[in-house]
This record gives sequence, C-alpha cells and structure tokens, in this order.
Amino acid sequence: MFRLSSSTLLLGLSLATVSTAYAADVGKLAIQDELPVGQAAGEYPRPPSWDQLPEGELGEKVLRGYEHFVNTQSLAPEFVGNGLNCVNCHMDSGKKENAAPLWAAYMSYPAFRKKNNKINDYQERIQGCFLYSMNGTPPPTDDPVLVELSAYAYWLAQGTLTGESFDPADMAVPSDAELLKGGKRDDFPFMQSYLDAGGSKEPALPGRGYPVIDEPEQAPDIARGKTVYEQECSVCHGANGEGQMVNERYVFPPLWGPETYNWGAGMQRVNTAAYFIKRNMPLGQPGKLTDQQAWDVAMYLDTRERPQDPRHHDDIAKTREQFHGGKSYYGTEVEGKILGSESYPNHPNKPQ
Ligand code: HEC
Ligand code: HEC
Repeated sequence: MFRLSSSTLLLGLSLATVSTAYAADVGKLAIQDELPVGQAAGEYPRPPSWDQLPEGELGEKVLRGYEHFVNTQSLAPEFVGNGLNCVNCHMDSGKKENAAPLWAAYMSYPAFRKKNNKINDYQERIQGCFLYSMNGTPPPTDDPVLVELSAYAYWLAQGTLTGESFDPADMAVPSDAELLKGGKRDDFPFMQSYLDAGGSKEPALPGRGYPVIDEPEQAPDIARGKTVYEQECSVCHGANGEGQMVNERYVFPPLWGPETYNWGAGMQRVNTAAYFIKRNMPLGQPGKLTDQQAWDVAMYLDTRERPQDPRHHDDIAKTREQFHGGKSYYGTEVEGKILGSESYPNHPNKPQ
C-alpha cells in the first residue's frame, strides 16, 4: 500500500479548496437541525484573507479563534475527548462552501433547534459540536475559547458578506456578549459598504451546511458501502476507520472507534454523512462518488461503534426513542449487535 506524503496531502487539500462551485442555495431556515437545500447558480462568496485582519484586540481574538478551530487538540484535555479538530468537518478552516462554512453559520444564529428544543445563540451551537462531534465537555458559557471561536466566525461573515470592498478598519468591534450571540439579530452591525452595495439584512448564504442529495434509488447497504470504503477511503482513513497519525498527531482523522465523533453527533446520521461525503470526499475529489455510493459508504461508517451518546443513561432503547430515529442506526441491531451496546466512553481525556 502506498503512503501519502505530506505534499500529496497538501495537493489534496488545495484541490479540495479550489473545487468548483456546486450549485446550492440554502436560503433561510427557522429550524437548524436539518440543513437546507435549494439551487442557485453562480459563485460562492469569497472569505476575507489574512491581510484583512482587524487591528488590536479583536484581531487577536480572531487569530486565537482560528487556531482553536484548526488545532482544537491544543485545547485538550479540558474540552476535547477525541482525535478530531473542528476543521476536519468544516473544511478549509471553516471557509469552504458546502462543508458547513462558518461565515454562513454565524449569520444563522440565534435560531431554534429541535435538538435541544430552544433558541440557540452561536455559542450554544458551538458548545453542541464540543459535546458531540468532539466527544468532549463544552467550554462553559461565556468562556474566552467560545468568544474567540465566535470572533473568528464574525470576521469571516463580515468579510464574506462585504466582499471586495471589505475594509476591516470599518468593521464594528462588538462586545464579547455580542460576539457570542451570532449574526441573525436585528441589531447586528452590518458594514456600511455592504448596505450601500444593496446587501440584504437577511442574506441568502449559498453554500451553507452540507447540501442535501436525493434519496438513493436502492436502500443504503452496508456490504456495498464496505466495498466503496475499501476502494476510496481506507488508504487515508485506515482499514478500521482508525485514521492515520504522524508524530502522534492525526493527519487523517478517525471515522469510527474511540477517537471520533460520538453517537450524539450530526455526522452519525447517515443522511448528514452522505451529504458531507458527496461534496467533500474522497479528499481532493469531491463529487467523485455517485449519490448511491455516498449513501452506501455513509451507512457503513455510521453502523460502526463509536463513543456513547452523552445523553444516554442506562436504557439504549429509551435513548434511541428520545433522541434517535430517522437516519440514525443507534439502538438497532447490526451484524448481530445492538449499536450503542459496546460504545466507547465520553470524554475519556477529562482532567481529573
Ligand atoms: C465530526 C464532524 C464535526 C466536527 C469535528 C465539528 N463539527 Fe460542527 N458540525 C458538524 C455537523 C454534521 C454539523 C451540522 C449539524 C446537523 O446537520 O445537524 C455541524 C454544525 C456546526 C455549526 C452550525 C452550522 C450551521 O450552518 O448551522 C457550527 C457553528 C459548528 N458546527 C462549529 C463547530 C466547531 C466550533 C467545532 C469544533 C469545536 C466543530 N463544529 C466540530 C460536524 C462537525
Ligand atoms: C486523500 C486522503 C483521503 C481520502 C481518500 C478520504 N479522506 Fe476523508 N478526510 C481526509 C482528511 C484529511 C480529512 C479532514 C479534512 C480537513 O481537516 O480539512 C477527512 C475528513 C473526513 C470526514 C470527517 C472527519 C471525521 O473524522 O469524521 C469523514 C466523515 C470522511 N473524511 C469520510 C471519508 C470517506 C467516506 C471517504 C471515501 C469515500 C474518504 N473520507 C476519503 C482525507 C481523506
């Protein structure tokens, strides 16, 4: 088997970055659990570049937020319980369209979420990804880590909306409390140049989330998915979904087992994983898989054991009934075992 050199990896990453536009308009949604679809022609907005960083304290917060986003492991063991970084699923440092980009996410909160049945501001949405996707313990409300992650998304959102005329010197400097809320609020400080250019206070945000693909013609199938996995994925993610490390750091993230997202994460739903995979994997060749292959391989991944759903107490059937269903296979019997019955611990790295 060949090993990927870091230059191959870089090539892959830059190919992924320049991958051309998939048409998808996500529109506006009141409920944020199922991410939206639609079609829109044209290009996606371009996020700001590093020479458009604001001066002073805000710029420092943005930079620290970026660092936490791409190297979330630097926050372990306090907040992170697996081997992932935010950027593994929100690709190109949270900038890539159709990979749940932060510039679109930031402008979509506060919003009601079915997942916890209340209005979530931006910081609560991030806390959710710490709890489930990172199998960790979220930073406490108003923690500087959440402020910094929010500042990074705020800057990406302002720069993306404003586009070529973006001048960070004209950007409002919100308080920490304002940064944590997100951009979907009446008093959001849109930039004057954005408004002057006719920008809407309810921006459309094409490229948000992972765009929905059609239901497959045939029901997703584990055996077919395993074949796709072996042909298209295991070279990077490992024969057992364990990922690959160099110098004790993951260069290819784990997909199942103890070191990845848990049974409460969005990615454990076969539909969400299929949408992500279709647009983003194999790395550098988005769109290579047919819709059917994306569904099949998603089904294969998401019927492997992973860390427990942190909302679980003692009865798997009850946890399934309360929190799962639809395209989650948690609590169902697969290959002779009930998924969830041999799950790995939540936040194993927690400081004592
Ligand atoms: C294992 C993959 C994964 C990792 C790692 C991950 N996320 Fe997510 N994130 C998702 C998925 C999937 C969704 C969409 C959820 C859904 O469809 O229910 C999401 C949604 C979000 C959203 C809302 C997007 C929107 O448009 O509504 C934000 C913000 C976010 N994540 C931030 C983070 C941050 C910050 C981290 C790191 C602390 C992180 N995520 C780590 C998979 C991940
Ligand atoms: C060339 C190497 C490569 C190949 C091939 C590849 N991936 Fe990935 N995959 C990556 C990398 C690298 C990331 C993290 C992306 C980042 O951080 O920007 C990733 C991220 C992911 C994630 C989200 C993070 C996580 O750990 O859950 C999933 C799911 C995933 N890949 C599934 C697949 C599937 C399914 C295939 C096969 C169809 C595949 N990948 C093929 C390199 C690859």
